[in-house]
Amino acid sequence: MMKAIIRTEDGGPEVLQLADVPAPEPTETQLLVDVKATALNRADLLQRRGAYPPPPGESEILGLEIAGTVSAIGSAVQGFSKNDRVFGLVGGGGYAQQAVIDYRMAMVIPDDWRFEEAAAIPEVFFTANENIFTLGRLTAGETILIHAGGSGVGTAGIQIAKHAGARVFVTAGTPEKIDNCITLGATIGINYKQSDFVAEIENLTDGEGVDVVLDFIGAPYLNRNLQILKVKGRLLQVGLMGGATTDIDLGVIMRRRLQVIGSVMRPQSLDEKIAITQRFVERWLPELKNGTLRPIIDKVFPLAQTCEAHEYMEANRNFGKIILKI
Ligand SMILES: NC(=O)c1ccc[n+]([C@@H]2O[C@H](COP(=O)([O-])OP(=O)(O)OC[C@H]3O[C@@H](n4cnc5c(N)ncnc54)[C@H](OP(=O)(O)O)[C@@H]3O)[C@@H](O)[C@H]2O)c1
Repeated sequence: MMKAIIRTEDGGPEVLQLADVPAPEPTETQLLVDVKATALNRADLLQRRGAYPPPPGESEILGLEIAGTVSAIGSAVQGFSKNDRVFGLVGGGGYAQQAVIDYRMAMVIPDDWRFEEAAAIPEVFFTANENIFTLGRLTAGETILIHAGGSGVGTAGIQIAKHAGARVFVTAGTPEKIDNCITLGATIGINYKQSDFVAEIENLTDGEGVDVVLDFIGAPYLNRNLQILKVKGRLLQVGLMGGATTDIDLGVIMRRRLQVIGSVMRPQSLDEKIAITQRFVERWLPELKNGTLRPIIDKVFPLAQTCEAHEYMEANRNFGKIILKI
């Protein structure tokens, strides 16, 4: 048995409770990990409310990323031993004392990193890399607008886009978040509560617009996102925090040869997620190891205070990641 956070029913943060549950058992290609830290993601709030069930075969326990030590290994695992410090993306099960991860998705934690730092990385850096570069094909000299710049994904996206030589604009809801985004590498921040980002972007780019938009807001932003894209611009639709349904003029997409690309990480196949891990390991892990990039941690809560951690995220108070220490 192990301690884990369970949902007593669908609902608010109060449905999350610490309980004793059976520990997972690794398959032949999995590591069993004693989890030392995990992190919150916006998707966890949806899953808590019953709106984002885990894909078939994944744990019902919340938690999409883990950092900890290997306590058992499956018979077909290669390259890992007991007591190795590892981190990585999981399909669920992170809010617990033990979790399983396929060995091909596990990464060794550098000696000088704390578990909390490692747990803050996988979901947001993988999502930012896949969308900005693999799908969005952002290149040096191009311009990107990242909405919700203070979100976990936003803080990773700003850093990697800037590092790749792009000009980065962000939106965020408070002056503090905008200042923090600029410290991370954004050129300009737009407070979306005080001004219209379309007018601001048009001013900033002399009416040219941007090459790429990374959007998590969805319906209320769609037309405006299309409006500010240059010819051949790419809109990456990665979240729907403002809603999922709206009307658009498809002529805009045709005339300016725009691309609207959507993606979700969790339902992808194991093979796809191994490839996503590998692309991150090759391009960004070295930059995190040498300190050029860093995970942005807002606050660390003990596992027993997961309810408070969810309230904190739901109130949009975090800049970067919220960690659960186990
Ligand atoms: N598709 C994928 O594979 C994938 C993977 C990971 C995450 N995501 C998505 O990426 C987004 C960010 O996730 P996260 O975990 O990094 O989030 P997070 O750290 O919780 O940050 C979310 C921030 O978005 C802003 N926000 C919330 N509602 C908003 C609204 N209606 N309009 C404008 N801004 C709003 C808030 O900042 P302000 O104070 O600036 O308003 C909030 O702090 C979520 O939509 C999540 O579902 C998608």
